[in-house]
Amino acid sequence: MSTKKGTDIRPANGKLGVLLPGMGAVATTFIAGVEAIRRGHAKPIGSLTQMGTIRLGKRTENRSPKVTDFVPLAGLDDLVFGGWDIFEENAFESAKHAGVLTRDDLDREKGFLESVKPMRGVFEQSYVKKLSGTYIKTGTSKMDYAEQLCADIAEFKRAHGLDRVVAVWCGSTEVYREPSEVHSTLAKFEAGLAKSDENIAPSAIYAYACLKSGVPYANGAPNLSVDFPAIHELAKQRQIPICGKDFKTGQTLMKTILAPGFKARYLGVEGWYSTNILGNRDGEVLDDPESFKSKEVSKLGVLEHILQPDLYPDLYKDMCHVVRINYYPPRGDNKEGWDNIDIFGWLGYKMQIKIDFLCRDSILAAPIVLDLALFMDLAQRCGMHGIQEWLSFYFKSPMTAPGLYPEHDLFIQLMKLKNTLRHLRGEELITHLGTEYYD
Ligand SMILES: NC(=O)c1ccc[n+]([C@@H]2O[C@H](COP(=O)([O-])OP(=O)(O)OC[C@H]3O[C@@H](n4cnc5c(N)ncnc54)[C@H](O)[C@@H]3O)[C@@H](O)[C@H]2O)c1
Repeated sequence: MSTKKGTDIRPANGKLGVLLPGMGAVATTFIAGVEAIRRGHAKPIGSLTQMGTIRLGKRTENRSPKVTDFVPLAGLDDLVFGGWDIFEENAFESAKHAGVLTRDDLDREKGFLESVKPMRGVFEQSYVKKLSGTYIKTGTSKMDYAEQLCADIAEFKRAHGLDRVVAVWCGSTEVYREPSEVHSTLAKFEAGLAKSDENIAPSAIYAYACLKSGVPYANGAPNLSVDFPAIHELAKQRQIPICGKDFKTGQTLMKTILAPGFKARYLGVEGWYSTNILGNRDGEVLDDPESFKSKEVSKLGVLEHILQPDLYPDLYKDMCHVVRINYYPPRGDNKEGWDNIDIFGWLGYKMQIKIDFLCRDSILAAPIVLDLALFMDLAQRCGMHGIQEWLSFYFKSPMTAPGLYPEHDLFIQLMKLKNTLRHLRGEELITHLGTEYYD
C-alpha cells in the first residue's frame, strides 16, 4: 500500500549553477547541447530526465507521467554554466578544438558559448602527464588552492544570482592511485592539504572545495576524486550528496546491456576482448599508462560483477576479459570500439559475437552530465547525502557504501533509479510481481 507521503522536497526555485571542472569535449558538448535545446534547435535525446516517463501504480491505471512532471527538477532555462580549465579557451573555442559538434551547430550557439569562460584550474602535471596547463592558479599550499576554489564558487554564485550550485567533474583522467593514509580521515586529509601532501590529486582538491561550499559533486572520470573515506566523512558532516565514478558510455554501456542478457539465459562466456581507437584529448591522456590504469580498473570490474563467476563457475569462472585503448589521432572524438565475445551454449557448443561500435563518446556523455546535474540538485533538495547509489545507472564504476559490491546491470540500475523517484513521491515501488495469478 502506498503511503502517498513521500519526502519533503524543497522547490527548485531560482537559478541552478552547474560547475564543470574540466571544460573539454564532454563539458562543451553538454553546454552547447543544452543551449541548442533551450533555443528549440534540438531535442534532448539520451537524457532520462528530459525524455523519460515513469510508470506509476498498476498497469491498468495507465499512469506514466514524464519524469519532469513527477519530480521537481530545475528547468533547463534556469541552468547557468561555469567551470575551470587549465587552458584559457572559452567554451566555443574549446568545443571547436574538441571537434565533436559540426561548425554549423557551434556557430548557431556561438555568442552564448563564447560567454562561458573557464576560471583558472588547479593542476599538477604528475597527475596528467600528457598535458602542460598554461592557465593555472598559483598558491602556497593545496589548502590555499582549495580556499581559492571556494572563493571562485562563492563569486560564481554571487555574480549570477544563483540559488544553488552543483558540480560534475569533466576533467582529464588522472593517474591511478589507491587511497592512502592521507585519504583515511578528514582530519588527516586537511592536514595533508595544509602541507601539500603529494598523494592529494587536483580532482580531490576540487571535490573538497565543492563540499565545503555546500555543492553536490559527481565524478565523471575514473580517478578517486570523491571516492575515499575522508571525503565521505565531509559529505556526511555537511550533508551533501556525492556520486561517481566514470560516465558509462560506449563500450561499457554495451557490456552492461549485453552481459545481463547472457546471464539471464545462462549462456557461458569464455572470453571478452575489447579494443578501442580514439583520437581526442581524452585518448591522448589515456595514452599514458598511468592514466590508462585508472580507466582499465574502472572498465574491468563490470563483467565480474554482472556475471558473478563465484555463483556460476560453470559459466564464467575462467572468463578472459581484456580491455585495450589505443590513441589514434585521425579518429578524433569518433571512437571505434570492437568487441569479440566468445560465448558457449547447450553442451558447451561455442559461438562468437562481434560488435563494431562507431561511437561518439561525448554525444553519449553529454546527456549524462545533464541528468546528473539535475538529479544531484534534486537529491540535495530532498536532504539526501553521501553516496547516491541510485545514480549508478550513469557510471562505469559506481561508488557504493563500504563493504557493498556495485550494481552494474543497467536494467537493475534503472529500476533502482526509478524506484527511488517513486519512493521520494510516496508512490508504490514497482517490483513487476504478477499478482494477477493469485486473484
Ligand atoms: N567522453 C566520454 O564518453 C567519457 C566517458 C567516461 C568518462 N569520460 C571522462 O570524462 C573526462 C572528460 O572527457 P573529455 O572527452 O571531455 O576529455 P577532454 O580532454 O576533452 O577534456 C578534459 C578537460 O579537462 C581539462 N583539465 C585537465 N586537468 C584539469 C584540472 N586539474 N583542472 C581543470 N581542468 C582540467 C583539460 O584541459 C581538458 O580541457 C575524462 O576524464 C574522461 O575519461 C569521458
